[in-house]
Amino acid sequence: MTQVAPAPPEALEDLKNSEAASMPHSPLNGSTPHDNSGDADARDAAAISDFENHVNPTMARLLKFMGFDSVEVAARGAIVVDSHGREFLDCLGGYGTMSVGHSHPRVVAAVKEQLDRMAFSSRVLFNEPQARLAKKLAEITPGDLQFAFFSNSGAEAAEAALKIARMSTGRTNLVSAIGSYHGKTLGALSVSGRDKYKTPFAPLLPGCVNVPYNDIAALEDAVDESVAALLLEPIQGEGGIIVPDDDYLRAARVLCDRHGALLVCDEVQTGLGRTGKMWGCDWPGVRPDLMLLAKALSGGCIPIGAVVGTARTWTIWDDNPLIHSSTFGGNPLACACALAALEVIEEEKLVESSQRQGEKLMARLRQTQSKYPGCVKEVRGRGLMLGFEFTHEDIGGLAIAALAQHNVLAAYSLNNPRVMRFEPPLNITDEQVEWAAGAFEKAVAQTAELVGEIDIEDAS
Ligand SMILES: Cc1ncc(COP(=O)(O)O)c(C=O)c1O
Repeated sequence: MTQVAPAPPEALEDLKNSEAASMPHSPLNGSTPHDNSGDADARDAAAISDFENHVNPTMARLLKFMGFDSVEVAARGAIVVDSHGREFLDCLGGYGTMSVGHSHPRVVAAVKEQLDRMAFSSRVLFNEPQARLAKKLAEITPGDLQFAFFSNSGAEAAEAALKIARMSTGRTNLVSAIGSYHGKTLGALSVSGRDKYKTPFAPLLPGCVNVPYNDIAALEDAVDESVAALLLEPIQGEGGIIVPDDDYLRAARVLCDRHGALLVCDEVQTGLGRTGKMWGCDWPGVRPDLMLLAKALSGGCIPIGAVVGTARTWTIWDDNPLIHSSTFGGNPLACACALAALEVIEEEKLVESSQRQGEKLMARLRQTQSKYPGCVKEVRGRGLMLGFEFTHEDIGGLAIAALAQHNVLAAYSLNNPRVMRFEPPLNITDEQVEWAAGAFEKAVAQTAELVGEIDIEDAS
């Protein structure tokens, strides 16, 4: 879930009343089923009230406060359509999940085909899609990663990795970075790096240490013979799109080798082309012992997570093949979906597209940054994992609302509310890059004007 910083209500009201930018033609224009009468309002009201009364009242209030007051009804590629037929460019993409875009026809076809044949597994006979996916991951991941354990989410993949690390090293201590995000289950939370989300649930796992990110000296102090694993994101996503020096992961590799600890690369957000290379750890050319995957592996359709590991790490199941398991993990539907998503990524050259479109988008966003340095402190990232750091977190809140007025969906980084990110589908078109960049420029301009009026203190 994404944190949305509060913004002054009058400022948001101004944004709501401002004239929304005209939207370029999108692939779904005129072809999407939606209610074009008062029925849409009734539908929105019912869904929002049900959400408020039965899901998460605080989140419902926050979304309404930000100006989101309709339900999503359809999506294709980078476009999401609401109940009124309004089309949004999805630059959040399920927090970096929609790498192949919404409802990619090949992925949907593969899921339908598997669904018609066998929706789930007996869990006794061999599961062919799972075996094929594990082999495929062994082929496309760096180094000698060979085995895969499948889960249903990134957090569960992190949980499995912690147990694999403990079992294969016989150690319990874990090192990870401040600002990191590995999920919200208790184990994953223990190694995540923001106290705000950890303190209310203390005590968490003992023996976990968070060190400053991109700080080799801090790693040298923390990694020793007691450490089972060092977990690092190749680029911190929820930490605020923090790109470390290439030497950082290389030094982590050397330290882990020296002290017999496992290097775990959490590629849940960076993996599968998001950064303009297949894996985030390809930038420094580092080979981890364990790699975590989720998000884009789902093809934007069926949830799946995975931890992929070397033979040396894979001792946990030696004496008991069920010592760690998941009923739904590795189900044939999710695995068939992931296999199709991987084919799409390869055949449509989405890694290259991420690099190319990311460079274009970054250049345009930086033009806006240079025009409004009082609002936008920095634009950074790699490929289509782009973050903009605002000079004040309330400015980010205003900018997100303003972007929505221009039909672009975006959100904060969970552990760094000053940083908003764009993580659109990797097959985003040139026209959509322009749409995103143009909306960003208008949103920042509007926000800069408002900030001038309401005098938000520059806390940079
Ligand atoms: C790097 C990283 N690891 C793990 C997770 C947790 O994944 P999930 O939300 O599927 O549990 C996330 C989610 O944002 C993530 O960005």
